[in-house]
Amino acid sequence: MNDTGKLRVAVLISGSGTNLQAIIDAVAAGRLNAELIAVLSDNPDAYGLQRAEQAGIVTYRLDFHSFADRTDYDAELHRQLRHIDPDLVVLAGYMRIIADRTVEHFAGRMLNVHPSLLPAYPGLHTYRRALAAGETWHGTTVHLVIPELDAGPPVLQYRVKIHPGETEQSLRERVQTGEYRIYPLCIQWLAEGKLEFREQQPWLDGRPLTAPAIIDETTELKDQHG
Ligand code: GAR
Repeated sequence: MNDTGKLRVAVLISGSGTNLQAIIDAVAAGRLNAELIAVLSDNPDAYGLQRAEQAGIVTYRLDFHSFADRTDYDAELHRQLRHIDPDLVVLAGYMRIIADRTVEHFAGRMLNVHPSLLPAYPGLHTYRRALAAGETWHGTTVHLVIPELDAGPPVLQYRVKIHPGETEQSLRERVQTGEYRIYPLCIQWLAEGKLEFREQQPWLDGRPLTAPAIIDETTELKDQHG
């Protein structure tokens, strides 16, 4: 926490940073009681870095391709994150796998948003795969990061019903709209102590969360744990 009791958050991005923008906007609007202390990127050209600079947030450009190998890059990211020492690391469209020792250092303090209803469709091309499989529902998940990719306990999901004639593009737009709602909300839950991780398991309102909370396009938050 900073000296005004706010959660100190570092955000990792690789690209356009629309989720980062939603988090910046939530802080500016007073919906998220956190301080964004750093934005880091593996891609020095990520547009999200400009968004961060416009918001007055310190940026760290780690050009992945300028490192000799992945081990060197991982070591530098680890060093930077330890130096910044945030309360929470938020992965927002960060497209590289985080080294196990970094995940372990921030155990219970690193969140990701992944565009599927985990545990369905970990990995890449989730929209294409869900459409090809003829799914009825798709969505996005905020989950705790553990060393295994996209496998950490899910906390909050946003669901959309797949429409007839839905395209990857239309589905992505609808799902991302939901990300802009659920990611800042989830971080706020942590900031206010509504959400905690005990031994890497999510607890919401003082009770273990056995299934993720769900918001969908047409309804508000469903209390699945009451
Ligand atoms: C987000 O929609 C996020 O779900 C996805 O990348 C997008 C980044 O957009 N993340 C992953 O696929 C991680 N596996 P943004 O840079 O505009 O926030």
